[in-house]
Amino acid sequence: MKHTLPLAALAAAVASLSFADEAAPAAAEAVAPAPGTIRMITEATFPPYEFRQGKEVVGIDVEICKAVAKELGKTLAVEDVEFDSVIPSLIAGKAELAAAGITVTEDRKMKVDFSHPYVRTGIVFIFAKDKPFDAEKAEEAKGKRVGVQNGTTSADYVREKLGQEPEMFDSPASAFAAMKAGKVDVVIADIDPAKAVIKGEPDYDISELLTVEEYAVAIKKGQPELLAVLNKVIDDLDASGKLDEIKDEWTAKAEAAAAAEEAAKPAEEAAKPEAAPAAE
Ligand code: ARG
Repeated sequence: MKHTLPLAALAAAVASLSFADEAAPAAAEAVAPAPGTIRMITEATFPPYEFRQGKEVVGIDVEICKAVAKELGKTLAVEDVEFDSVIPSLIAGKAELAAAGITVTEDRKMKVDFSHPYVRTGIVFIFAKDKPFDAEKAEEAKGKRVGVQNGTTSADYVREKLGQEPEMFDSPASAFAAMKAGKVDVVIADIDPAKAVIKGEPDYDISELLTVEEYAVAIKKGQPELLAVLNKVIDDLDASGKLDEIKDEWTAKAEAAAAAEEAAKPAEEAAKPEAAPAAE
């Protein structure tokens, strides 16, 4: 115990480190976080990891980062950007933590440091049941229009394994909407958001996993103290069973939110003709 750095000292060390980073010319665009705040950057179209409930960004990744903030004696601020901006923004010093269902890849490891992984997962095909795609015969997607979210490992998969350019969308849900509109033949996305997307869509299904991937929280390189705190929090959440609780809780909440949205749809549409004249 004697050799363990007290948490307050850790927090101070982290604070001074991020201060040093802000002063660096490379981080010209960086703005310091509000005092007592630590910022998480994400892309919130990815249930159950991050999604919007009203104006608030919620989900598994938010809960993990809240636990990190608590350990540091800070409050969490969440920023929502396009997925392909998450890591560049982190590197530019616009946030201290990046948590967005980010898969650990060799490429990304060269740019950022990753925490211990907190999920083992992978990507799947989302397909129309009358035009099925099979993970075992993934090459059958070659030459087809494959929709993916911008900047994801699904996009990498299409380039590397299918040898073609994917059709890019800003969320798994918008790629799915394009498939429903006949603009793409199949979608590839991470399995959990894929499950969320096909909920209440009896004509669509998902395949087995195409890859095995792990999610971790990313931080700017060269911050061993912050990395240690991050890993401690994730390891503790895991060991105590709290991580599984968070996953179950937010999977259920994301499903409930999607069901509520679905239930609200016909009502909204029915209300439209009346709402229009009333608004004039
Ligand atoms: N796991 C995939 C990747 O890291 C997709 C992540 C997308 N995350 C999101 N919040 N939209 O590339």
